[in-house]
Amino acid sequence: MKIKTIFALVTGLATSLLIWSQFNGVATAQMSDDWKPKWTAEGQLELPTGYREWIYLGSPLTPNALNDGEAGFPEYHNVYMHPQAYKLYKQTGEFPEGTILLKELQLTREAEEEDGSRTEVSGRGYFPAAFNGIDIAVKDSSRFAESENWGYFNFGHHAPPYAKTASAAPVGACAACHISNATKDMVFSEFYTILNTK
Ligand code: HEC
Repeated sequence: MKIKTIFALVTGLATSLLIWSQFNGVATAQMSDDWKPKWTAEGQLELPTGYREWIYLGSPLTPNALNDGEAGFPEYHNVYMHPQAYKLYKQTGEFPEGTILLKELQLTREAEEEDGSRTEVSGRGYFPAAFNGIDIAVKDSSRFAESENWGYFNFGHHAPPYAKTASAAPVGACAACHISNATKDMVFSEFYTILNTK
């Protein structure tokens, strides 16, 4: 065999291998389930990592000072969704199986007024301070068929560190209120403007 022919064969093989491995890489990335919830052997939900780099949906705000000093969820509720789940939601208009909605609570800066507000250079209002807890909703129709396909988890309402794992809360503690009041598939989606924007 001529040297040229051998060279051509080797180059051809290398190119095919490169194309195959790239294609395979893309396929694996698309099929990866990394964004889905992770469960312990006992069926507890593991606290996801990296959630502050997920898609930020918005922050309903319930200041303690406007809720008899004891808001149920003090005070900002910063809600995040994994980019992969967000992408599927945008494509289908439905929350996909495995969706995690993570709500991190955050206190407001120290109050100067009775309503909990204070004045900063930008004006009078409420300003973010310390992180204060995590609640999570997971869509999983096999685990949570009894509560309309969503399970609810409280990782603690306090400063970090949060619990690393949590058991599903009793239906009466969380799901019942979402079942009766939420607007779209157990979610208060009207507050998450980017979900409703084209
Ligand atoms: C009394 C009704 C009520 C109860 C009980 C309740 N929630 Fe909610 N939840 C809401 C409302 C209203 C919102 C959206 C507005 C807000 O955050 O203030 C919300 C938002 C959320 C969100 C963000 C996604 C969404 O559905 O909008 C998560 C996650 C969540 N709740 C988890 C929990 C967990 C975990 C519990 C139990 C520990 C719980 N909730 C109990 C009313 C409730």
